[in-house]
Amino acid sequence: MSAILEVQQLVKKYGDKVAVNGISFDIQAGEIFSLLGPNGAGKTTTISVLSTLYVPTAGDAVIGGHSVVKEPMAVRNLIGVVPQDLALYEDLTACENLAFWGQMYNLSGKALNARIDQVLEQIGLKDRAKQRVKTFSGGMKRRVNIGVGLLHQPRLLFMDEPTRSLDPGAARSLRDFIKEHIVAERGKTVFISTHQLDEAEQLCDTIAILDDGRIRAQGSPDELKSGLEANSTLCDVFSFYTGKSFDEDGVSHVPFAIPRRKKRGYGLGMKRKGY
Ligand SMILES: Nc1ncnc2c1ncn2[C@@H]1O[C@H](COP(=O)(O)OP(=O)(O)OP(=O)(O)O)[C@@H](O)[C@H]1O
Ligand SMILES: [Mg+2]
Repeated sequence: MSAILEVQQLVKKYGDKVAVNGISFDIQAGEIFSLLGPNGAGKTTTISVLSTLYVPTAGDAVIGGHSVVKEPMAVRNLIGVVPQDLALYEDLTACENLAFWGQMYNLSGKALNARIDQVLEQIGLKDRAKQRVKTFSGGMKRRVNIGVGLLHQPRLLFMDEPTRSLDPGAARSLRDFIKEHIVAERGKTVFISTHQLDEAEQLCDTIAILDDGRIRAQGSPDELKSGLEANSTLCDVFSFYTGKSFDEDGVSHVPFAIPRRKKRGYGLGMKRKGY
């Protein structure tokens, strides 16, 4: 595997507020990577900078060999973005929504129609193509939103909290869909942000724990847990590296007891990033 994305000392400030504070990490082609952090950790800001929506205050990131600072147009051709909030027109059909956003990506005519057909097939909504989005369930709307991000066949797909506001069953089926139909079948690289520990653990090859704009640990779920006592959970890992606990709503607070490290020395994820 080779790195499709290399983030180098990235900083983003809003006025005096430091939202992203010098983060560095790599993502390998074909993996599912998760930026895991509570509300306000800096997940959306990171995705906004990596997808060239915002210019970083300092640092850079290289996607497929192109700098997000110096070559934003080249980067945009390689990436798709599925935003945290749904970006769909409820009164338009699934097909019309895809057509609208396809034109934004400079697709038109037969090429656009062919691509819409392929995407509808991929997101499993071919039979609902002519129905208005407002008649769809939350999970179906999310799939249309993902379809928009896939229209121009990006190599790297950013998804900001893709299962936000879905019930557990719909969230599970969306995770299966991402794994089976986007990564395994199509060979894409997926970058998700989430505040759900179980989602990061079940879906992702690599997890970076983000807290207060800093990456506190990085590694596979097993690597992250292996540095702590036996039977430690990802929740324990979060507490260990941040000094806070993490509830299911993405709210972090100081826990009663910080989990202990199994042995002296650093876990693999820490070693790798030189913490
Ligand atoms: N446009 C903005 N102007 C000023 N501050 C901002 C702006 N956008 C975000 N912030 C602040 O930057 C920090 C990081 O916000 P961000 O939205 O990136 O977090 P997040 O991890 O995506 O949170 P959530 O899980 O709630 O979506 C927060 O303190 C937030 O208040
Ligand atoms: Mg966010």
